[in-house]
Amino acid sequence: MKILFATSEVVPLIKTGGLADVSGALPAALRSIGVDVRVLVPGYSQVMAQLTQHKFEATFNDLPGFPAARLLSGLMPNKVPLYVLDCPTLYQREGGPYQDAAGQDWSDNAQRFGLLSKVAAMLGCSTSPIGWLPELVHCNDWQTGLTSAYLHFSPGAVPSIITIHNLAFQGIFPATMVQSLHLPGSCFNINGVEFHGNMSFLKAALFYADHITTVSPNYAIEIQKEALGFGLQGLLTTRRKDLTGILNGIDTVEWDPARDKHIAKRFSSKDMSGKAANKEALQSRFGLNLEANLPLLGVVSRFTEQKGLDLLLEIAPLLTELPVQIAMLGSGDAQMQKVARDLSHLYPGKIGIHIGFSEELSHLIEAGADMFVMPSRFEPCGLNQFYSQRYGTPPIVHATGGLADSVTDCTETTLKNGTASGFVFSGMTVGNLMGTIRRAVELYHDNEKWNALCKLCMSKDFSWETSAKAYRSVYLKVLEK
Ligand code: ADP
Ligand code: GLC
Repeated sequence: MKILFATSEVVPLIKTGGLADVSGALPAALRSIGVDVRVLVPGYSQVMAQLTQHKFEATFNDLPGFPAARLLSGLMPNKVPLYVLDCPTLYQREGGPYQDAAGQDWSDNAQRFGLLSKVAAMLGCSTSPIGWLPELVHCNDWQTGLTSAYLHFSPGAVPSIITIHNLAFQGIFPATMVQSLHLPGSCFNINGVEFHGNMSFLKAALFYADHITTVSPNYAIEIQKEALGFGLQGLLTTRRKDLTGILNGIDTVEWDPARDKHIAKRFSSKDMSGKAANKEALQSRFGLNLEANLPLLGVVSRFTEQKGLDLLLEIAPLLTELPVQIAMLGSGDAQMQKVARDLSHLYPGKIGIHIGFSEELSHLIEAGADMFVMPSRFEPCGLNQFYSQRYGTPPIVHATGGLADSVTDCTETTLKNGTASGFVFSGMTVGNLMGTIRRAVELYHDNEKWNALCKLCMSKDFSWETSAKAYRSVYLKVLEK
């Protein structure tokens, strides 16, 4: 089976969030079960700098509406075949994949990801300029959403599926873009790419793709309802027979406390003694007092409404009285960053903040913290709750999306029957979050039970194997149609 996996980010080449982790690990897992998956990604400066060996595949010199581009091929460090869409005018610039250094969306994002979608679709047509023809194109999020529309209007096109990693981001642009992106005017329709008078890249995929997947079974249900449907619940409900929730896995080599090159001391569930050295290293890096027996809460997150960090910041002063320490890594919303910084100044030694993106610190937090907090308002899947469990750092999570699917609340019963894997609260209030952290802290001081919980967390299997097979079944189902 031959699959083109089109994505706007992939580890280790370029990452802003979980989509990159999934794009790095899932294709490798699929290849190990016999699926010939190849990844297509834009040639951002960061990607080009890492593409040491490559072959030239094709040029796109006269695509109406787009600057000249080339397709190169190479290999990912994990040996997954890679296609890089090189278009310096659109992709090589200082800043992130979606935003400039000041956090503003690039003004030409419609054209940037229109081109990515267009080329993904061209590679999925019998007229493709390269020798390898996929049987299906697997698109991810709005950035590759137009692929399904382009394929729909192309003769000799293969089918496509779209994976929703986050319905909150939809790629909405003015209606005039339909013409600029050379889509037929007829698709600007409620049965097409139109969304409240604008065009929507994601809606295009939800309408035209042959199948829709999302990153947890629970989120697949949630997005069919108004509260988390972001206006697309009607369409998603109509397409519910073609909608499958598949829980993400994790890269168990990259995220393995026994092999992790980013942490102070390696450890495993058989010998957890190394956690203490990581805690000390984490406390030093975040300017926290070196207290071995004070529970240390870790956070690694984008600072946005979605992640619910405002609740945590609100109760942080109370938490220092429990007492606990907090180590927080992330960036995003300027106001949240300011509140976090102010708190670290008001509570020196107790609250440590690092604003920015650091792969190394994110691993150290998983390894050195005692518990990990993820009070997300909604969470399509979430990955840090998996990493936390794997590092013996029980996660404290809001019962939403993939968090509800992957963390089992610790009670007397679940601790005894071996299913406990963290702390879960329902109802997004400061009281519920505070109460749950208090409950976790109480258990922390019961050494025997806490160790039992950490070991249970570490015994869970989050490898991609099962989910990769589920994706293969979806591909098969679409191809059989
Ligand atoms: P989302 O994709 O919505 O941000 P996920 O939990 O799926 O949420 O994935 C987030 C990924 O990004 C995780 O691998 C997490 O460790 C990483 N991450 C988030 N913020 C940072 C940061 N500031 N520094 C390093 N890694 C980060
Ligand atoms: C998105 C979601 C996150 C998910 C990730 C990977 O960024 O917000 O919940 O884990 O994609 O699928």
